[in-house]
Amino acid sequence: MESVIDASGVRHEYPDGTTAIKSIEITIEQKERVAVIGANGSGKTTLQLVLGGLVEPTAGSIEFFETTTDAEAVREQLGVLLQNPDDYLFNTTVREDIEYGPAQLGHDRATTERRIKSLADTLGLDELLDRPPFRLSGGEKQRAAIASVFAFKPDVLLLDEPFGAVDATYRKRVRSLLSNHTGAMLVFTPSLDLVPAIANRVILMSQDGSIAAKGSVREVLTDRALLSNHGLRPPQTVQIFEGVLPTADIPLTAEAARKLLASQEF
Ligand SMILES: Nc1ncnc2c1ncn2[C@@H]1O[C@H](COP(=O)(O)OP(=O)(O)OP(=O)(O)O)[C@@H](O)[C@H]1O
Ligand SMILES: [Mg+2]
Repeated sequence: MESVIDASGVRHEYPDGTTAIKSIEITIEQKERVAVIGANGSGKTTLQLVLGGLVEPTAGSIEFFETTTDAEAVREQLGVLLQNPDDYLFNTTVREDIEYGPAQLGHDRATTERRIKSLADTLGLDELLDRPPFRLSGGEKQRAAIASVFAFKPDVLLLDEPFGAVDATYRKRVRSLLSNHTGAMLVFTPSLDLVPAIANRVILMSQDGSIAAKGSVREVLTDRALLSNHGLRPPQTVQIFEGVLPTADIPLTAEAARKLLASQEF
C-alpha cells in the first residue's frame, strides 16, 4: 500500500540545543489511523510539526506520498491542527479563519459556503462565525480551529490534542468528524481514554524523544509496565478489567465495557 508520510532517521533539535525528537522511523499508510502517545515533553508536538511539514527536521528525511520531500508541494493535503488554537486563528472573524484555507487553495466559493455551514452545525459555531476569534472561550477556539482544518478537506490529518478543551457534547461531534474522514489520520495525545475509539495503531514516545514502542492499540494500551515506564497509565477500562479478564478480552472502550457487562458472560 502507498505511504502518505515516510520519516527516516528524523531528529529535531531546537536552537537552544534541546533535542526534542530523535531516531524517528515512521511510515503512515493511506487510511491508517494512528495515535501518537507520550508524556508531556516527549516530543509529540515537535513530531507533529515535523511530519506535517511545518518544521524542517535538523536531520533525517521525510517523504510525502512517495513522491516528494518538499512539504510545500503537498501543503494542501496536510491538515495540521496545532496544540494551541491561538497560533492560527488570526483573522478578524471566525468565519474568515475557516474560509482562509479553502480560499488560499482556490476552492469553489459555493462549495466552501456549504462546507462551512455543515461544519458550523456540527461544531456549534453558528453564533460564533461573526465574532473575533480572540474573544472565544478555550473550547470554542478549539472547535473553530478544528473547523478551519476540516474546511479544506485535507487527505491527511495531523491533530494535536483535538479533544483537549472540548466538552462532552462536542467531543462526540469531533469524534464523528474524525470517523467520517476517509484518509490517513494521526492524533497526538497524552490522554489514552479515547485512543481505542479513534485509532488502530499506536506509537509511544519516550521521554527522550525517541519511539519507545509501536503496535496495535491492544498491545500497547494493555501493557501497564511499558506505559508506566513512559509516564502514562492505561485507559480506564483497562485499569478496571486488568487482572479480571485475560488481556485479549479486556474491553478497550466504554461502549465495549458496557456491552460486556450487559452480556451473560459477566
Ligand atoms: N521552541 C522550543 N525551544 C526549545 N525547546 C523546545 C521548544 N518547544 C519544545 N521544546 C522542548 O522539546 C521537548 C518536546 O516538546 P514537545 O512540545 O514536542 O512535547 P509534547 O510531547 O508535545 O508535550 P505536551 O504533552 O506537553 O504537549 C520538550 O523538552 C520541550 O521542552
Ligand atoms: Mg504537545
